Amino acid sequence: MNEADFIWMNGEIVRWEDARIHVLTHALHYGSGVFEGIRAYETERGTAVFRHQDHLARLQRSAELYYVDLPFTLEKMREATHELIRRNNLRSCYIRPIAFRGYGEMGLFPLNTPVEVVIAVWPWGAYLGEEGQRHGIRAKVASWRRMSSDSFIPEAKACGQYLNSILAKVESAKAGYDEAILLDHHGHVSEGSGENVFVVRDGKIATPHPTSSILDGITARSVKQIAADLGIEVVERHVSRGELYQADEVFLTGTAAEVVPVREIDDHPLGEPGELTQAIQKRFFEAIQGKREEYLEWLDFVGVEEGAVPQEQVGTA
Ligand SMILES: Cc1ncc(COP(=O)(O)O)c(C=O)c1O
Repeated sequence: MNEADFIWMNGEIVRWEDARIHVLTHALHYGSGVFEGIRAYETERGTAVFRHQDHLARLQRSAELYYVDLPFTLEKMREATHELIRRNNLRSCYIRPIAFRGYGEMGLFPLNTPVEVVIAVWPWGAYLGEEGQRHGIRAKVASWRRMSSDSFIPEAKACGQYLNSILAKVESAKAGYDEAILLDHHGHVSEGSGENVFVVRDGKIATPHPTSSILDGITARSVKQIAADLGIEVVERHVSRGELYQADEVFLTGTAAEVVPVREIDDHPLGEPGELTQAIQKRFFEAIQGKREEYLEWLDFVGVEEGAVPQEQVGTA
């Protein structure tokens, strides 16, 4: 994998192949890091990062929950991301900021180990495939439960917690499905291995309650806003496994996956993407491409470098 030329590492831009860490990095052994997944899209006004500040605010919250002091301000990380996208000449990309315990002291008490911050960007297409985005994916309810909040902090996007998602993802893939949906420790629907879940029945949408061990998805927040603007009611409540099978439509949301219809769950067919899913998907794609005025506030335009002379002004004076 060498998908871009440069990576931002602890305040400096380094070449992709030079972005290295020590094998005794604390996070490699104990999962002691927090991260984000963000996307930047091409729009008519240039590249824009989708809900950049919201993602960085969540990174900060995840960090605080695991006692990680970020050594850079969110504004510094935001500017660094813009700079990195420009240096890599990318029009659209996936963005992965990560803050982790680096090389220092081993052992489970982490607070003396320095925190490193890295930002990587690379082009990344539809996470669950173009075909899945258009015609829907096949999902399996995992035998693994989503971590409970008395063992971990499901609201945090923390590295070690993703072993839970990996178990579910591998199980579903080995069984021939595209994605896993996990139940929480009470047996309510929680979320996909990296996506939030929405269930449509009789023109209304339900999505798992925040107490069902979910990550507060930023795509999900956007979809709730879009649904409200379309006059569709969205209720956050406990959702049962049986409701998935009897739904008119089910879709998943996430930064990597975007908005993806589900066409089959545990061999119960739901069919081609339904009307509400398609309406929400359409508006979401318009929003990320800067085609709708009302959602422009979600876009953080990368712009040209500060102090740089715009191309059209070069040679004029
Ligand atoms: C476990 C989990 N749930 C939900 C989501 C969706 O969140 P977002 O829409 O903010 O990407 C993600 C992806 O970040 C995730 O990893």
